Amino acid sequence: MIIRSGRVFLKNKLVAASIKILSEKIHSIHSYSYSDGDEIIDFKDKIILPGAIDGHVHFREPEAIAKEDFTTGSAAALAGGVCSILDMPCYNSPPTITIGALTEKEQIAARKSLCDFGFHFGASPTNVELIKKLQPPSLKGFLTKTNSPLTLTEEDLKKHFAIYLPHLPFLVHCEDQKTIDQNKLKYSEHHKIRSIKAAVRAVKNVNLLGRKFKRRVHFCHLTTATEVSTAKSQNKKLSKDLPGLYPNYFSCEVSPHHLFLSTADIKTLGVYANVNPPLRDKKEVAKLWKKLKYVDCIASDHAPHRIEDKENGASGFPGVQTMVPLVLDAVLNKKLKLQEAVRLFSSGPAKVFNIYYKGEIKEGYFADFIVFDPTASWQIKEEELFSKCGWSPFLKRTLKGKIYCTILRGQQAYLDGKILLKAGEGKPLIRTKQIGQIPLFLKKHSKEAFFSF
Ligand code: DOR
Ligand code: ZN
Ligand code: ZN
Repeated sequence: MIIRSGRVFLKNKLVAASIKILSEKIHSIHSYSYSDGDEIIDFKDKIILPGAIDGHVHFREPEAIAKEDFTTGSAAALAGGVCSILDMPCYNSPPTITIGALTEKEQIAARKSLCDFGFHFGASPTNVELIKKLQPPSLKGFLTKTNSPLTLTEEDLKKHFAIYLPHLPFLVHCEDQKTIDQNKLKYSEHHKIRSIKAAVRAVKNVNLLGRKFKRRVHFCHLTTATEVSTAKSQNKKLSKDLPGLYPNYFSCEVSPHHLFLSTADIKTLGVYANVNPPLRDKKEVAKLWKKLKYVDCIASDHAPHRIEDKENGASGFPGVQTMVPLVLDAVLNKKLKLQEAVRLFSSGPAKVFNIYYKGEIKEGYFADFIVFDPTASWQIKEEELFSKCGWSPFLKRTLKGKIYCTILRGQQAYLDGKILLKAGEGKPLIRTKQIGQIPLFLKKHSKEAFFSF
């Protein structure tokens, strides 16, 4: 099959081109008028972008499936131009801190997912030995109290930092619990209790540990410019040790709600505005926008809760379906360059999470695309949301541009409001912990940990 349009995102520019697709991959890229007898789908002057990757979703399976499941969550992803997701190990039970829990999730996703998927493994105080053997492609830990065994003390974090291969991303939710607990004595508002200070303290601690153990850290959902610069401090100096594997020891993500909402929205959203880490004031949001060039990727932190859960103060927003549309609306409003947008939602996450053959329109890569109509517009309405939770903090917003079609490994997966794939057509992502031969600085790590994967 050949797809073509007058505006294909190639080498950071929009050019007229055609793309030959053969067995799920991009076979070759040609001039617009190319033809070799294959069927041609001409998207005229709609914009063809690489499919998006969302490295931070909570699809709630197993167990919390009243809020979301893999089929509804991945349908929301495809409708939002997201071809690949990485599901978090927390806020479902059992948490993904054992091989059994991971296998169970893989089987659920293989049966139910519509988009491609991978998993972050969870670091817990009791599974250090398992991580040493398993060395999963990414690992997530929390410094705050969670209703799961993923809460780590600094000691636990040090144990995991010491044995987890240093070039693999260790993801951390950075809010300092002690500071939050002290704030509870002074404030009642959610966004004041989970203060910026609590976030910056946690980021600083984790950055210092990353430097001490000389190991990669990925900072989840940073909310202020100060967190970004704190997360990245000493990154340049340290990163020379990571030859070609990854340009950054310290990488970070921001979530759409911390760019497109602020504490000013609390008056309309009320308790629905609860999210961890919380919304920040307009001043902080403006400063965060200025720091985006230091941010490695955007990630939705898709955390669906039903209306009744939100009424009871549950923290979190659905976001996987609205993330790319919000970012592309910002591009059309000249708040962001298209090149930056694509780096944030496609090539950036592919690099951070070592996802092979995704994140760019390049020969040999999977044929994942977003076909975007910049002349249309989209008002975010409940009935058009695929997430089971049935609401969004962005309801009623009208965005410039609209996703017309999402193509997953060469198949039209979403077209003009409809999902065209069947549950289970999503496939596991190809992620490896190692690119090429063992880099020198890994020598100090025990070999069996390395080869057991
Ligand atoms: O607000 C949040 N909700 N932040 C998190 O870190 C977890 C998420 C959830 O899964 O509900
Ligand atoms: Zn989090
Ligand atoms: Zn999360």
